[in-house]
Amino acid sequence: MAGLFITFEGGDGSGKTTQAELLATWLEEQGRTVVRGREPGGTDLGLELREIVLHRRGHIAPRAEALIYAADRAHNIATKVRPAVDSGDIVIQDRYLDSSVAYQGAGRVLDGGEVRDISLWATEGFLPHLTILLDLDETTGRERLDGVRTRFDRLEAEKADFHARVRSAYLELARAEPERFLVLDAPRPVDELAADIRARVEALL
Ligand code: TMP
Repeated sequence: MAGLFITFEGGDGSGKTTQAELLATWLEEQGRTVVRGREPGGTDLGLELREIVLHRRGHIAPRAEALIYAADRAHNIATKVRPAVDSGDIVIQDRYLDSSVAYQGAGRVLDGGEVRDISLWATEGFLPHLTILLDLDETTGRERLDGVRTRFDRLEAEKADFHARVRSAYLELARAEPERFLVLDAPRPVDELAADIRARVEALL
């Protein structure tokens, strides 16, 4: 059986993890082996990089930030994701290179094309078979997060206009690659979203 790489994207608080878990459970019920991933922090090295890039206090230059995410991604793809997909597993991951284009590109105002190229270099051009974008307006995302946040997070602490730019960058990425993206309205009921996601994934199996 051919492996698959499926990524979930969207702003903070858009419900990516919930939907990724539901999809993983469903695929396991279909007899598939599922590997869960996330970026940053999907590997041991990645966990150390995640601490730096998300929780370190003080300034990190935007290009340095972009390269830390790319380093995490390079290691994650080389040591975990690509081997799993090559052996026929389904990798379901929270966030991938579209996060870098949206957050470091539009959010931090680096060139989105350059940011994407760095990730493509880092991963030897590894793109997901499917990317599910859970689209949410930044105010709702913020309200959902304020209830659960426990630690200072450098990206979440950014102002609303940063998150508005991230959202429009995501929508632009989805428009540019309609075959790869499934865009869903995040505030819809969890079960309905899960059913739409299953339908799209079923077509790939
Ligand atoms: P999360 O694991 O809770 O989704 O948090 C990850 C944070 O890191 C989130 O605010 C988005 C940000 N991020 C980037 O800025 N660039 C990236 O390439 C990735 C993967 C995440």
